[in-house]
Amino acid sequence: MVDVILGMQWGDEGKGKIVDYFAKNYDVIARFQGGPNAGHTLYVDGKKVVLHQIPSGIFHESKTNLIGNGVVLDAVTLKKECGHVAEMGVDFRKNLFISERTHLILPTHRALDKASELSKGNQKIGSTLKGIGPAYMDKTGRNGLRVGNLLDKSFTTEYIKLRLKHQRLLDSFNFQEDISAWEEEFFEAIDFLRGFNIVNGEYFINERIQKGQRVLAEGAQGSMLDVDFGTFPFVTSSNTISAGVCTGLGIAPQKIREVFGVSKAYCTRVGSGPFPTELNDETGELIRKTGNEFGSTTGRPRRCGWIDLVALQFACMVNGVTQIIMTKADILDNLAELNVCNGYRINGEEKNFVPFQMNKVDIEPVYKTFKGWMKDISEITEYDNLPAEMKSYIQYLNSYLGVPVKYISNGPGRDQLLHA
Ligand code: GDP
Ligand code: IMO
Ligand code: MG
Repeated sequence: MVDVILGMQWGDEGKGKIVDYFAKNYDVIARFQGGPNAGHTLYVDGKKVVLHQIPSGIFHESKTNLIGNGVVLDAVTLKKECGHVAEMGVDFRKNLFISERTHLILPTHRALDKASELSKGNQKIGSTLKGIGPAYMDKTGRNGLRVGNLLDKSFTTEYIKLRLKHQRLLDSFNFQEDISAWEEEFFEAIDFLRGFNIVNGEYFINERIQKGQRVLAEGAQGSMLDVDFGTFPFVTSSNTISAGVCTGLGIAPQKIREVFGVSKAYCTRVGSGPFPTELNDETGELIRKTGNEFGSTTGRPRRCGWIDLVALQFACMVNGVTQIIMTKADILDNLAELNVCNGYRINGEEKNFVPFQMNKVDIEPVYKTFKGWMKDISEITEYDNLPAEMKSYIQYLNSYLGVPVKYISNGPGRDQLLHA
């Protein structure tokens, strides 16, 4: 049996905290897509940790963590992260595994990401510059090196071949940067990786499922950043939706049970691209400040705005979301009025679907206004004790989306989570 936790917006919904919380109910926690563009924040014994490559179940001693084949792996980031969690007492040699089919991010992929962004002028995607797009391009272009190849004698020769190919591309971008320091780090990290638990991920996970073990698949990014269904081209390069769990781990769709969709009580986006409910005003600034909305990978200020039910309903549909987990509800504590977007006005007509090219149409959000609760909710532990204004906000979401909000997160701490 497999359950999924994934983001329903443009990422940073609080997936890390939620996976860490739910990990106790599972045997295996697996990442199925994305790479070090992810920044999942957890508080362990009051200490803040940001994970980029390692699944967020790593702090649970008896749990198995798997980096699946659908992930793109930056060995340098992984090595650093392993050092970090080891200092916190985690025995990653025992409970972290990597699929041999996982593609590696090479130093030239990072350079290519940078070169590609620079070439776009003011049309930048605003990528995290971690080499994600170029690594996935090599995968679908049937190039690329995989973790299993580390054990091949020809690894360095194959690396050099790819490097030459990439160099020609970099030259075409007229991009010059000395990457020798990155390469040195890369080969050190590759040596480190050779001593890892490298497994056949699909047998590894299916054997466990057959034995009755429970798997939690941890999504990265968010549904609106999905390469097919997101706000293309302002998206990431993988399938972030629940279907990505099957291809990213090698499991069959009928094994998936619950799909937990994580959404903030408002909305944020980091990087370029359409964001119909964005607030470029004092309220947006207040949300950014109160919510500490700065990227956990790049530190960039996140764009903030009202919750967008049109986009959330779309995310429920493409993912088959069965339960919604609403995070950062406490960030709205000091707002007297809250807006909820329940339609898009396009060319004067009200619509309730996500258009083909969001960036090419003028979308005016249609709002329903709610009274704010104006109360500190961060210490509340029972749903019944939440302010009435908040309950009506949640009930409206339930009825619009047709999928219930089952959990409400009211603070960054591991246990700040209410069951509705
Ligand atoms: P992820 O990428 O989806 O894992 O999310 P990030 O970790 O990038 O960003 C979410 C941020 O919000 C982190 O700093 C979390 O510690 C924090 N956070 C998560 N849930 C809550 C919540 O309910 N309330 C508050 N105040 N912070 C939260
Ligand atoms: P988590 O897992 C928020 C965004 C980037 C950029 C676009 C493409 O922490 O939610 P990429 O580097 O993937 O090629 O960048 O996607 N992006 C994210 N935004 N959270 C993330 O991850 C993101 N990963 C990528 O900002 O707009
Ligand atoms: Mg994040």
